[in-house]
Amino acid sequence: MNDDDILSALEAALEREPRAAPLWLLYGELAARAGRTDEALAALRTAHEDAACRERAARRIVPLLRAKGQLAEALIRIEALLAQSQSDGALHAEHARVLRARGADEEAARAAARARALGVDPEAEAVPAGRSADSAPKPDPVPPAPAAAASVNESTEPADWAQQFDWSGLVTTFADVAGLDDVKRQIRLKIIAPFQDPAVFRAFGRSGGGGILLYGPPGCGKTFIARAVAGECKARFVAVGIHEIVDKFWGESEKLVHALFEDARRRAPTVLFFDEFDALGGGRGRVESQFWKTLVDQLLQEMDGVQGKNEGVLLFAATNMPWNVDAAFRRPGRFDRVLFVPPPDESARLGILRARASKLPGGDKLDLAKVVKATPLFTGADLVALCDRAAERALEESLAGGKVQPVTTKDLLEAAKAMRSSAEEWLATARNHARYANESGQYDELAEFLKRHKRL
Ligand SMILES: Nc1ncnc2c1ncn2[C@@H]1O[C@H](COP(=O)(O)OP(=O)(O)O)[C@@H](O)[C@H]1O
Ligand SMILES: [Mg+2]
Repeated sequence: MNDDDILSALEAALEREPRAAPLWLLYGELAARAGRTDEALAALRTAHEDAACRERAARRIVPLLRAKGQLAEALIRIEALLAQSQSDGALHAEHARVLRARGADEEAARAAARARALGVDPEAEAVPAGRSADSAPKPDPVPPAPAAAASVNESTEPADWAQQFDWSGLVTTFADVAGLDDVKRQIRLKIIAPFQDPAVFRAFGRSGGGGILLYGPPGCGKTFIARAVAGECKARFVAVGIHEIVDKFWGESEKLVHALFEDARRRAPTVLFFDEFDALGGGRGRVESQFWKTLVDQLLQEMDGVQGKNEGVLLFAATNMPWNVDAAFRRPGRFDRVLFVPPPDESARLGILRARASKLPGGDKLDLAKVVKATPLFTGADLVALCDRAAERALEESLAGGKVQPVTTKDLLEAAKAMRSSAEEWLATARNHARYANESGQYDELAEFLKRHKRL
């Protein structure tokens, strides 16, 4: 029996047992040996979904990606494998080959040296990956994908994947969000109102659709307010960081994105929130990377959809670095509203402190106005940390004395003195963008904030 016969037999078996990951693995390995690279990749990716086959599948996937020139993904995968087994010479050898293919010759030489030190000859694999020395090039240039591969992927329950990002248990509403009145107003108009009264909006020729991109320094309530929108609309809250999508589901990221949207549509209303949205833009050699491109394309496709497809899906994204977000996401119907989430002003700081301090012993006797004056530009997260810090002193004394000691205004002021606003650094960076890269007025709100605080 030659490879093709075995492959046909496996194909038949897989049609009956489409969830048998070890069979997919075997199929992938044989297809790779027969030079049927695309089929091999599809099969190995399917095998990769199964925890028991994952590592072996990943090892087989890397040389195939390299052969196809998908070098960014190849690099991410091989580095992930290496992180788990540093003393595996074969992995270092493959690492060297991927690096060389990317033109990183020095790094490649170092990786090759590591492979040799571990007893593996990095030059040994002389034939191109995915094709064994004895198999002549196939006349069939576009091998048909295994028929069952698609059905396996569809039968994998996407809700299982999406489930882990569902945070609906923690109900928050706008009343919990201090300040940010302008942000709330715009979200009401753009997202909540069309959701609650679609007929009125249609009468004005407007569609709901599209999403909101929130940006600002860390810790000022971007995630918090997206969660509150879910509370306002009695919708589910599904939140996922782009890094999570990439790190936990590399190679499968675009499938996860599809699963998240499908789940959001099926169990609407859903607030679907993408955090760290800038991760899709800068970093990790994006330009040449098929890997990121596939993910971005998938997201765009899900967002655009056909009219009404995403009804009941309220879309949010957040970033600390809006200047790294791909302009393609800003087009109409996508994240066409970009809102600045600033550090809390005095009344918002008072609100945050009050909500937090009222839960502490002695909380009703605190002079919070004084604390507000002592915390210019502190973020919401800073204020929460400040209360915790102040409470620590009182807690220690309480434990020592065996009697509950109240937290005092002095505790809070001392904690404030020991801390710095964590927004400062962000504002310094943002200033340059507001000053030199605001041609289209996208940072007007930021610029105005900076002017008001004499930073521009
Ligand atoms: N405007 C606000 N009102 C109430 N709490 C806030 C506010 N901003 C921040 N916080 C508090 O700080 C924490 C961190 O905020 P978060 O939404 O995670 O910030 P971001 O997403 O902007 O980095 C929140 O969980 C909340 O406890
Ligand atoms: Mg956040």
